[in-house]
Amino acid sequence: MTDRELMSMAYEASMNAYVPYSRFAVGAALECSDGTVYTGCNVENAALGSTICAERTACVKAVSDGKRQFRRIAIFADSQNWCTPCGACRQFLAEFSPEMEVLCAKAGSRYVSYKLSELLPHTFNY
Ligand code: THU
Repeated sequence: MTDRELMSMAYEASMNAYVPYSRFAVGAALECSDGTVYTGCNVENAALGSTICAERTACVKAVSDGKRQFRRIAIFADSQNWCTPCGACRQFLAEFSPEMEVLCAKAGSRYVSYKLSELLPHTFNY
């Protein structure tokens, strides 16, 4: 699967975002080392701190299906800035695959690519 195809799955996933509070829809497509892809969107809650980001939705879907090795994640938001994962999502993904690739989109079908270890060096673990 190409980067663009993965990003297009993230775009499709963003259509399911439940965002009555922020109105900021995010979609993610997480590619596992066996080639399977899990998508996710952000799901907000009136208790705002209970909101879950698109990246963690996708990761929890994959892990609960027995997948723990990830190659790439594409993150889509129709935003002004590159939609990089929040700190909690960086830590959450790094638990499983600190060297995975992170593709971050912004409006206009452009994206940038990072290694997760660039975005979160010195990951906490014990
Ligand atoms: N959000 C994500 O889903 N992923 C990110 O990478 C950044 C933020 C969500 C959380 C919340 O629903 C909304 O975007 C605004 O913060």
